[in-house]
Amino acid sequence: MKRLARIFLAFLILAGLWLALKPTLGNRRIPFLPIHWSQYLDLVDFWFNFGAFMILAVVAWLAISPGSHLRHAAALVLSAITAGNVLVEQVQRGIPGRAMDLADVLAGFIGTLMGIVIGFAIQLYTIHKREGSKPQVLFVDQTGRLGGAELMLLDIAAARAADSAVLLFQDGEFREALDEAKVETRVFALGEHAVAVDKQAGLRRIFHIVPELIERVLQTAMLAREFDVVYANTAKALVIAGPASFLARRRLVFHLHDIVSDSHFSTMNRFALIGSANAFAHAVIANSEATKQAFLSAGGSVEHLSVVPNGFKLTDTRSTENDLQDLRKHLSLPEHAWTVLMAGRLTPWKGQHVLLKALREVPEAHAIFLGDALFTDEDRQYARELRETAAEPSLAGRVHFVGFRKDTATFFDLANVIVHASVIAEPFGRVIVEGMLAAKPVIATRAGGAAEILTHDQTGLFVSPNDAKELANALRRLHADRTLAHHLATTACEAAREAYGLDAVRSKIEHVIQSCTPTASTPSLSNLQHAEILP
Ligand code: UDP
Ligand code: GLC
Repeated sequence: MKRLARIFLAFLILAGLWLALKPTLGNRRIPFLPIHWSQYLDLVDFWFNFGAFMILAVVAWLAISPGSHLRHAAALVLSAITAGNVLVEQVQRGIPGRAMDLADVLAGFIGTLMGIVIGFAIQLYTIHKREGSKPQVLFVDQTGRLGGAELMLLDIAAARAADSAVLLFQDGEFREALDEAKVETRVFALGEHAVAVDKQAGLRRIFHIVPELIERVLQTAMLAREFDVVYANTAKALVIAGPASFLARRRLVFHLHDIVSDSHFSTMNRFALIGSANAFAHAVIANSEATKQAFLSAGGSVEHLSVVPNGFKLTDTRSTENDLQDLRKHLSLPEHAWTVLMAGRLTPWKGQHVLLKALREVPEAHAIFLGDALFTDEDRQYARELRETAAEPSLAGRVHFVGFRKDTATFFDLANVIVHASVIAEPFGRVIVEGMLAAKPVIATRAGGAAEILTHDQTGLFVSPNDAKELANALRRLHADRTLAHHLATTACEAAREAYGLDAVRSKIEHVIQSCTPTASTPSLSNLQHAEILP
């Protein structure tokens, strides 16, 4: 198509040049028409400008068929054709009695714009779907960093690598991890302004990045045409993948990992998320009952809303004593130190500062902070403040920041207690389940999805969010009562293996994907209720 379009474009340019130069022949009679050349031009001028330039733009667009840099290509086609149009008008001024007609230039400009849209539509709808034994899924996630939502997606996509691709809007270790898992990846990088727009961003910052977002939507739509289903894994991914799936005429699954409330999102972002979900999502998967309820309270209304928690690989292997010794040495941790592990990105709402405060009252405890500031400047500032606090005399030597690590298992095996301390409702809380599966007693804050995972005094201990005193008491309790700690750990491990096995979770998600393929019958959609598991 591209070759044909190029030949046709060359022909159109030659024809255009001929037409443009012809008026210089003067007010001659056209041999096969009973009118003079200038009259003819007047007659067809508007439509010549509108129609001819539209056709020219369609062909020019198809001739260059850009897969990326859509904005630049559109600007190029528009400015080149408009410049040509102005030139034609200028040449026509050579005919006695004719002036430069701005209405014609405008007609040509609008025609060109329409031509670009038509060219893009032709390009989009001639893209072929991939073939495969399973539905072909395009997963979309905005970040290149490895947060909980990305780790969940990594496990889902890796299990169906032959029939999936992951589109990211930022490069990074997530892409590397997907490559390792042999999952096809594409990166349509967003500029730094767009990356900096976080869940709290207001209207002005969002407005700034609109042209870039439009371009990503169109690119995503082109890619989505190759797949059966589009699967948005994050809020920002939804805002792009939503309209893209609509343009590509593909169904959209939205995996909701966030609590849509004013403590997590700005009004503007809540509006964009709920609006996109309601307008474009065929099915929404919430990672906890709390997430689902928050979505509904924020005005979310989609026909197929199910709760599927995160799933985890179940393994019986534990770190060897040698591995643990090496890690202790690496961290300069005393041989018998009673160690508290807090894993997760460093960000104010995760409450690392609350644990530091509690640690002042538990002098026998050491703490390991596993994770880094992943997303915003505010997080990076918070990480610096945490390090400053940890250097205070009451804490110095007992707090170990190890940064982000991919190999988290040894840290969980080394710890005596796992702490989760989010000060606002945690949507799900993978680290809680990871602690349970490592057979460690877990202390978590009672809110959001976390409150659905543990049972107080049976599989873990709950404390109130943002209450360092209560956390210190819970730590002291576990330090003093090793039998309780052991009982909580073993019960928790059994419960977690029962509720959060990866295979079961994968098949529930596959069920939702299947129900979104065009051939899926309506009855199977109603079966989505069976996908709900409330731990
Ligand atoms: N994690 C990790 N390396 C680190 C710190 C954390 O791989 O250095 C993982 C952690 O094991 C968990 C995930 O990051 O699986 C964090 O997920 P969670 O749901 O707890 O919180 P999120 O950051 O997604 O809000
Ligand atoms: C998000 C949430 C976290 C959840 C994870 C996986 O990152 O903040 O609570 O566990 O997604 O669903």
